Amino acid sequence: MAKAKAFPGAPPSETAGPGALDEAGRAGLRVLALESSCDESAAAVLDESGGLLAHELYSQVELHRIYGGVVPELASRDHVRRLLPLVERALAAAGTAPQQLAGVAFTAGPGLIGALLTGAALARSLAYAWQVPAIGVHHLEGHLLAPLLEPDPPPFPHVALLVSGGHTLLIEVTGIGRYRILGETSDDAAGEAFDKTAKLLGLPYPGGPELARLAQSGTPGVFQYPRPMLDRPGLELSFSGLKTAVLHSLRGRELTPKLRADVARGVEEAIVGTLAVKAVRALEASGLDMLVVSGGVSANQRLRAALDEAIGRRGGRVYYPRVEFCTDNAAMIAVAGLARLKAGEREGLAIQARAQWPLDTLTAVPFQHDATGAAAQSLHA
Ligand code: KG4
Ligand code: ZN
Repeated sequence: MAKAKAFPGAPPSETAGPGALDEAGRAGLRVLALESSCDESAAAVLDESGGLLAHELYSQVELHRIYGGVVPELASRDHVRRLLPLVERALAAAGTAPQQLAGVAFTAGPGLIGALLTGAALARSLAYAWQVPAIGVHHLEGHLLAPLLEPDPPPFPHVALLVSGGHTLLIEVTGIGRYRILGETSDDAAGEAFDKTAKLLGLPYPGGPELARLAQSGTPGVFQYPRPMLDRPGLELSFSGLKTAVLHSLRGRELTPKLRADVARGVEEAIVGTLAVKAVRALEASGLDMLVVSGGVSANQRLRAALDEAIGRRGGRVYYPRVEFCTDNAAMIAVAGLARLKAGEREGLAIQARAQWPLDTLTAVPFQHDATGAAAQSLHA
């Protein structure tokens, strides 16, 4: 393994915490991170020198499927059952004893408040028991920083397109914690639009990946759904009209496999086409060439192809997390948590979480660039 570079903002290695030397003798702060903001329970261990040592995830999808969406109280109760065993598994897989940890990170918001509190309570308690700092992480900052885990991480500054089940944002990212919102959806998020139209087609929750699968056999152009906001300048988005349009096109027709596939294809193309145009506009508006795409919808292959094509044509490049880190996970929370712990941030002893938490209120974290302007090269093992 190549000698690891320092994590952005890394203080000199002699300040690394006790027990933070890895087997190779390299100093590296190691964090445990928990994610519990919605319907995924997850734990991960990240070392600033050794990279991602373990990540464990339990998806509650089956639990919520019969209700057609996430039931918050059931989600909270299941996190209580799942989180501690996931922590134990992650620590064992990482070969890490609690004494080797420099801190415990957790998703402190935004998200379902009960679900967030289960992770906050466990993380805060473990940190207290182990006498290490706890750090609350903004879930969307986790998504934004997930591509830093890849071998070829994005440089700063860049524009980020954050497309998840609850959020759709275009953000100018000039560093960790330096987020300027350029545009966002005024109603449904992109993932929500996938999920709601998928439901109309009788697909199970969560509908995004199911709809994408169905769209593969659909014929493009049979259904041309509205792409609001494209005819207007600016970077605002809107997806709520899509479900009404889909409902309209299904009215009075037999839901044959061909009809479902053609509708799915039309929906996917409308969402992807809208996002691609707006992403290019955001790069133009900010004078940047690099785009980072993250959040659950960034797993969508048609979106990736459209963005690669549109941004490549301008001489730019698109960066994504690996597919498993597009949707919710604890590895991305560990990246943000480690950066913030290194910057000296800490939680108080109170167990706190925030259902709402504006992204642009976060504090900036200093980081170091390498010669290419890339950061966090050391985060991949
Ligand atoms: O980031 P995420 O796991 O959770 C939130 O923080 O919201 O995103 C979940 C969303 C869901 O709406 C899901 O349908 C969507 O991401 N999604 C997809 C795909 N995979 C997940 N949407 C379209 N195509 C996919 N392949
Ligand atoms: Zn998420």
